Amino acid sequence: SEVTPGALRWRSPSNIALVKYWGKHGDQLPRNPSVSFTLDGAATDTTLRYEVREQSGSGVDVKLSLDGVHNDAFSQRTAKFFERLLPIYPFLKQLSFAIETKNSFPHSAGIASSASGMSALALCLVDLEGKLFKPLGNAEFFEKASYLSRLGSGSACRSVYGGAAVWGKVDGVAQSNEEFAVPITDKLNPTFQTYHDDILLISKSEKSVSSRAGHQLMESNPYATARYAQAKQRTGEMVDILRRGDVEAFGEMLESEALTLHALMMSSRPPYLLIRPNTLAVIERIQEFRRETKTPLYFTLDAGPNLHLLYPHADAEQVKSFIREQLLFFCDDGMYLADRVGKGPERL
Ligand code: PMV
Repeated sequence: SEVTPGALRWRSPSNIALVKYWGKHGDQLPRNPSVSFTLDGAATDTTLRYEVREQSGSGVDVKLSLDGVHNDAFSQRTAKFFERLLPIYPFLKQLSFAIETKNSFPHSAGIASSASGMSALALCLVDLEGKLFKPLGNAEFFEKASYLSRLGSGSACRSVYGGAAVWGKVDGVAQSNEEFAVPITDKLNPTFQTYHDDILLISKSEKSVSSRAGHQLMESNPYATARYAQAKQRTGEMVDILRRGDVEAFGEMLESEALTLHALMMSSRPPYLLIRPNTLAVIERIQEFRRETKTPLYFTLDAGPNLHLLYPHADAEQVKSFIREQLLFFCDDGMYLADRVGKGPERL
């Protein structure tokens, strides 16, 4: 069939989990439900160029450049992802792809780019499906993009909606399921729609244990069953907190989730530790600041040493001077990224 060469372009943001996904089974399905805020500034811009392949080979034909430079490792990873998608999108074998991708944040900043990167690519692919065949309706489009993102990197499936998203089956959240995330944007209290998330870069070094290995270690973690039950319960509670706008209940659960995630790493067999001394130094100062000022500033962590500081817009001025005066000293290169809850991906 006649396919003229073309290009699709999407910007997609990262997300920060409030209740964490940790442990998976089957084809990248979560052991427990999770809920996240979609971010605004931390995003990936991806252009997917395609043309008909001269002769279709056995595999896929994918080249990827990051910030204008061809990247072999990412090209191979993306080719693997496309090959996994062949049962869904057999046409991927008939085309040649040149992907250009760039992140809004410094490449080696120690900020995970898999959620923004995978979701941006998935959005381009669903767009391509619509161009080659029949365009999907709006809801269907983002569900499919979330589904494809999940196959690339689990937590990426929550990045395709603005505000907040739930992944996994939760009582009280309509349509929630393990295959793709659903938006809970309409359930967000105004206080949380304008929430801040400042990301403190404690260390830019490569993590000693990857997320993939971390999920795997949950299979032999002695606390796994209790953890999955807790996370399921908490995701439901967190959705309710987000609706009520209760910033204290929010913060208590947020910090407990961060420390529980790292406790699971410390109780794995073999155990491991991703937080650094400066992570703890910052945590102590945040707790002290909260005691003294009664400001609802709380932290969370991903699978790494960097801290996310979450707080209401009304407290932004006070928190930002606190960060500048007392926390930047503990950061790698004195760097932090000021981010906030975002509106979701956009077609460029
Ligand atoms: O999506 P993955 O496989 O990289 O797992 C990431 C898991 C956490 O970031 C630690 C938590 C989460 O829910 O995003």
